[in-house]
Amino acid sequence: MKICIFGAGYVGLVAAACFAESGNNVITVDIDQARIENLKQGIIPIYEPGLKEMILRNQAEGRLSFTVDMEDAIKSSLVCFIAVGTPPGEDGSADLKHVLGVARSIGSAMNGFKIIVDKSTVPVGTADKVRAAIQEELTARGVNLEFDVVSNPEFLKEGAAIDDFMKPDRVVIGCDNVRTAEIMKELYDPFMRKQNRMIIMDIRSAEMTKYAANAMLATRISFMNQIAGMCERMGADVMAVREGIGSDSRIGYDFLFPGPGYGGSCFPKDVKALIKTAEEANYDFLLLKAVEEVNELQKDVLAAKLIKLLGSPDQEQSLTGRIIACWGLSFKPRTDDMREAPAITVIEHLLAAGATVRVHDPEALKEARKYFGDRIEYSSNQYDILSGADALTIITDWNEYRNPDFERIHAALKTPNIVDGRNLYKPGRMVASGFTYIPLGRCSSGISGEVK
Ligand SMILES: NC(=O)c1ccc[n+]([C@@H]2O[C@H](COP(=O)([O-])OP(=O)(O)OC[C@H]3O[C@@H](n4cnc5c(N)ncnc54)[C@H](O)[C@@H]3O)[C@@H](O)[C@H]2O)c1
Repeated sequence: MKICIFGAGYVGLVAAACFAESGNNVITVDIDQARIENLKQGIIPIYEPGLKEMILRNQAEGRLSFTVDMEDAIKSSLVCFIAVGTPPGEDGSADLKHVLGVARSIGSAMNGFKIIVDKSTVPVGTADKVRAAIQEELTARGVNLEFDVVSNPEFLKEGAAIDDFMKPDRVVIGCDNVRTAEIMKELYDPFMRKQNRMIIMDIRSAEMTKYAANAMLATRISFMNQIAGMCERMGADVMAVREGIGSDSRIGYDFLFPGPGYGGSCFPKDVKALIKTAEEANYDFLLLKAVEEVNELQKDVLAAKLIKLLGSPDQEQSLTGRIIACWGLSFKPRTDDMREAPAITVIEHLLAAGATVRVHDPEALKEARKYFGDRIEYSSNQYDILSGADALTIITDWNEYRNPDFERIHAALKTPNIVDGRNLYKPGRMVASGFTYIPLGRCSSGISGEVK
């Protein structure tokens, strides 16, 4: 099938690569000329495991191309995917200017029946706006062409995006035309070989499904962060509690890890947007407002623990003269994405308190420089930043931090303090090895974290 994808970002590139991999002819369009020039030369703008290889393979085999020429891409495609950004506007609502901009381009260039697919995360009712924008252009051109608008929200996870796309838990298609639904089924059939996981529904329900999914996951994270806060105060171990509740099949284990708060390009903005959509419908989404507030507070927890441990109350900036080493900057492992990463808040707090901050991350150092410039020190060696530091804090749970050389850490740090925002280690063993170990929501006595 001939398709074009607007937006060469995380979602657009992964979708383009995977649709090309399954035999389609895919043209990827972006307004960012430099990005497209790089992609033509095999330079991939993001780090996502497996993506580069897949793009290069399909490019070489002639199924995948990159362009800034929208008109040509639209004219030669039956299906046009919109996978551009929907950043939060000033009031928290999703800013649809890129989505509607693409819709207008499609309306002004289309030359026959087209299926326009909203893959960007967009509020309920956006498909109607896309339809209206296209129709307006067609009317202005004085032509009468048929088209359908489909909602096909994307559920991929950065860090596992290729796998998620190739073997999806489900593909949601919001559609009001049987013929178009059949074409969408054909497009996704290669990813359904084991089991049909297509869920076809009306357009508004599909649009709402994406927000409901992200809101649910964000809620679980904030819930567990508050349970961790309670465990800390009551002498309980949140990791034991997680096992205790996760084993209930109605609850499950996923998204119940305490941490420094959720971040990334999706949860924060989607939670905000759903609260705003509710407001516009005269509905007070109380639960989500609390989820967001808890998350903001949670981002302060690691810095607060470090200040409590090392701060001098008699100094205006209580961490002046202290060196803090940070492991992990991206909002989660296996990505270089730092959008709304909790590390940004943690580090800003530490800098505001006067600390010298040194950081390591396997992939996100380049991105981090955009946020911090010369205000912090960077290293691509996780141990180098420890030398003479007053504490190590773990912000992102990259694999390389799970089982490090503790003797080397102990020897390098000026004082063997670890504030662990991801609960990677066993508290009792850390204390026995001479560390002052401060995890989230765990007591260092007791056996629950020690015996596995
Ligand atoms: N990143 C994720 O994990 C993820 C997961 C699911 C859904 N989503 C949603 O998918 C959408 C895209 O997210 P992303 O992370 O891929 O964004 P991104 O910022 O990585 O990429 C967006 C791309 O769109 C391009 N663009 C903007 N206007 C354009 C136009 N008129 N024509 C062509 N290209 C244009 C930009 O230059 C940019 O390259 C968002 O709505 C997001 O919420 C993201």
